[in-house]
Amino acid sequence: MPPKLTAGTGIDALSHAIEAYLSTWSNPILDSIALTAISLIFKYLRKDYRDGGNSEARYYMSMAATAAGIPLCSAGVLVGHSIAQAFAPLKKIHHGLSCGIVLPYIVEFYIPSSKHKIVKIADAIGIDVSNVDLDKASHVVVKEIFRLLSDLEIPLSLRELGITRDQLHYIAKTALKNWPRPNSPRPLNYENVLGLVEKIWYGKQF
Ligand SMILES: [Fe+2]
Repeated sequence: MPPKLTAGTGIDALSHAIEAYLSTWSNPILDSIALTAISLIFKYLRKDYRDGGNSEARYYMSMAATAAGIPLCSAGVLVGHSIAQAFAPLKKIHHGLSCGIVLPYIVEFYIPSSKHKIVKIADAIGIDVSNVDLDKASHVVVKEIFRLLSDLEIPLSLRELGITRDQLHYIAKTALKNWPRPNSPRPLNYENVLGLVEKIWYGKQF
């Protein structure tokens, strides 16, 4: 796979692991598999992107993508995939890239309901957050996802993709109607999904 596809499929695997991990349908067994996948992706995806000939990175990314598929199939994904699937066809964007663009924003969106789980992602990726509170520790995780996206040269906003302001209502409506996610730890409605889509469009870290 060329670097762009390596980044897209790798970040898609990360979005499967994180969204399934935060799903209300997850359980302790699926959580541990998801955290293993997250740990491997943070350790190997950058190396895999920079050097496709690195067989160790390729091997562990294939393990990570497969591991992430296990919680994905049982616990399902969340609003990140709903929004990604709503906007990707508008600009013919690769599925993985579209899920990656939204990922830090949706982790931030779920902090109010799931900070106790999000902080465990920090442990999985080797960041010490033992001296900070749950909110701050969760924001550290969001920041690390932004940093990973940036290293993979993945856009950080919908504006950069040429999506226009007047398409945001359509994206929010389509996401909610076609993929409503009853497993979302934070109940979804038109207002909060539109607010999230607007933040992803502006590219603000909120
Ligand atoms: Fe996906």
